[in-house]
Amino acid sequence: MWRFFSRSLRVPYSKRSVANDSLRSHISRFFSTDAGEAPYTFWPKKESPYTIVDHTYDAVVIGAGGAGLRAAIGLSEHGFNTACITKLFPTRSHTVAAQGGINAALGNMTEDDWRWHMYDTVKGSDWLGDQDAIQYMCREAPKAVIELENYGLPFSRTEDGKIYQRAFGGQSLDFGKGGQAYRCACAADRTGHALLHTLYGQAMKHNTQFFVEYFALDLLMNSDGSCQGVIALNMEDGTLHRFHAASTILATGGYGRAYFSATSAHTCTGDGNAMVARAGLPLQDLEFVQFHPTGIYGAGCLITEGSRGEGGILRNSEGERFMERYAPTAKDLASRDVVSRSMTMEIREGRGVGPLKDHIYLHLNHLPPEVLKERLPGISETAAIFAGVDVTKEPIPVLPTVHYNMGGIPTNYHGEAVTIRGSDPDSVVPGLMAAGEAACASVHGANRLGANSLLDIVVFGRACANRVAEIHRPGEKQKPLEKDAGEKTIAWLDKIRNSNGSLPTSKIRLNMQRVMQNNAAVFRTQETLEEGCHLIDKAWESFHDVKLKDRSLIWNSDLIETIELENLLINACITMHSAEARKESRGAHAREDFTKRDDANWMKHTLGYWDNEKVRLDYRPVHMNTLDDEVESFPPKARVY
Ligand code: FUM
Repeated sequence: MWRFFSRSLRVPYSKRSVANDSLRSHISRFFSTDAGEAPYTFWPKKESPYTIVDHTYDAVVIGAGGAGLRAAIGLSEHGFNTACITKLFPTRSHTVAAQGGINAALGNMTEDDWRWHMYDTVKGSDWLGDQDAIQYMCREAPKAVIELENYGLPFSRTEDGKIYQRAFGGQSLDFGKGGQAYRCACAADRTGHALLHTLYGQAMKHNTQFFVEYFALDLLMNSDGSCQGVIALNMEDGTLHRFHAASTILATGGYGRAYFSATSAHTCTGDGNAMVARAGLPLQDLEFVQFHPTGIYGAGCLITEGSRGEGGILRNSEGERFMERYAPTAKDLASRDVVSRSMTMEIREGRGVGPLKDHIYLHLNHLPPEVLKERLPGISETAAIFAGVDVTKEPIPVLPTVHYNMGGIPTNYHGEAVTIRGSDPDSVVPGLMAAGEAACASVHGANRLGANSLLDIVVFGRACANRVAEIHRPGEKQKPLEKDAGEKTIAWLDKIRNSNGSLPTSKIRLNMQRVMQNNAAVFRTQETLEEGCHLIDKAWESFHDVKLKDRSLIWNSDLIETIELENLLINACITMHSAEARKESRGAHAREDFTKRDDANWMKHTLGYWDNEKVRLDYRPVHMNTLDDEVESFPPKARVY
C-alpha cells in the first residue's frame, strides 16, 4: 500500500537550504523507483498521499537540545554515522531557556567534593533517586563542565579567571554540615543559551547529519521487543521517513505544556515519552512534577533561582522573609519543592501580595545594580518586559509555576531504556536509549535540584554515546526492518489528519491544561486526584472527537499540534493516575491526606503503561547501591533544610 524507497538516503540540513525542487532532484539522484513508475514525486499518484523514504544510520538521535546534541557529538566522535532528527531548529530547543547554571564540584569558590554534591542530590530527590546513577552524574560533573569550557562555552569568571560558581538551592558543603555550597557554574543567567549554541557548534564541527523540522512520530519496534529506529514526518514537504538504526536515542524533553502555566516552551509536549508509551513500554515516576518557585505571576516566564543565589529574597504581604520560618538554615535557597509549598501556604493563609493576595514578591532591589547587570541581565530584562518591573527599584510578582518533569523514560546510568521483564526490573530494551528531561535515570527522584538539569543532559547525552561505542561498531550490519514497519503509524497519522469530530484541538488542550493545573497541583488530596483521574480520562475520550480543518501535509500546524496534544494527553493521564495511586508525600508529590514520606511502602518507582488507552501501573525498586567503594550509599533520613 505504501511506497517505500529502500536504500539509504542522507540529506544533511546544510544541503537543504535550497528549495524543494533541488531536494527532489537530490533525492532522485539517489533513487530509482519501481519499474514502470514515474521518478520520485512528492505527491505520488493513485491511492496514497504518503511517500516513504528509507534511511539507514548507525544511530539516530531524536531531539537537538543539550542532551540530543551531546549524544550526537559523542556518537559522531566515535565514528558512528549519526542522524539527529528535530522538530525545531537545534538552537531553538528548550535548553536555550535554561538560566541559572550547571552544578559541578569544581571547588572554584570554596573547597568542594563530588560526594557532597551526591549527598545533596540524593537528599533533594527525597531518596527516590537511584544512587548508582547519582554517583555517576556527580562524579562526572567536573569533567563535563571542563569539557564544555574546552568546547568554548563562555562561562562567567571570577576575578582570578576561574569559572564563577554561584549559590543554588539545596546545595551544601560537607554532607549538609558545612553551610551553603557555591557549585553552580554559569554564563550570567543565560547558561542554557550559551550551552546550546556551544554544543551546536561542536555538532557542526563533527558533521552530525541534521534532519531539521522533522517530527518523530513513533518508534519502529521489532516483534522481538528491540527498537530499530523511528518514523518521522518531514513537516516541510509531508514525506515520511523511516530511520533504521541500531541505536535510537530519545532526547525529546519534558511535557510541561500539559499544564496551563509552565516555564516550558510550547514545544515541550512529551513526544518521546508518548512514543515509548505507544510502544507498550513504561514511563517512570510521572507523578513528580516540579513547580519552580519563581515564575512571573500571570506570564509564567522563569526568573532564575540564581536570583536568590545572588541574594534575592521572597517576601509576603507583611514584608516578612517567610522562608526563615520554613527552612531556617537554607531559607530562600531550600530545595524547590519546599520553597514552592511554603509560598503556597503563605498565599493560602492570606499573606499573598497584590489585589487578590494570590502571589508573592521576589526582591532583588537591595542588590547592587552592578551585580544585577553582570550576573542577572536576562531576568532583569524579562521582569521589565513581562511584569513591567524595574528590578533595581521594585519586587517581581512571582508564583510557583510548572517547570520540570522528574519522571520519564526509565533508564540505567548508561542511558539504556529499561523495563520489567519477568523477575528482572532492570531489563534493557535493546536499541533504545534516552537522555535529558525525557529520561528518568533516575538522578532527580522525587525532586530535582536547580542546575542539575543542564548537568544531567550533558552527562547522560555523553553516556549514551559511550554505551553505544561499547556495544556496537560503526557500520555494523543491522537486522532488516520488519516488512510492515511503520504501517500502523501511517494509518494512525492518516486518521488524525482526517479527523472530523466537533472539538478543535485548542479546546481539548485547554481543558487538559486546566485539569492538570487544578488537580495535580503543588498540594494534592485523594479527592482532587480522583476527580483529576476522572476528568483527564474524559479529556482523553474527547480527543476521539477532535476536528482538524487543515488536511494537507505541507506545514500543517493543525496536524502537528493535534499529534502533540495526543502526546501530552498520554503523559497527563499517566501523571494523574500515578499521583492518585501514591499514598504518601515525597519531594514534589505533596499530599495533604498522607503528609509523611512512607519508605516502607512507597520507596519504589512507579511505572505507568498506556494499555489500550487506559493507564496501568506497576512498580520497580529504587537503586540504593553505589557503583563502587568511592562512596557509600546514603540511607534515608528526614529531609530538612
Ligand atoms: O532557576 C533556574 O535557573 C533553573 C534552573 C534549573 O531548572 O536547573
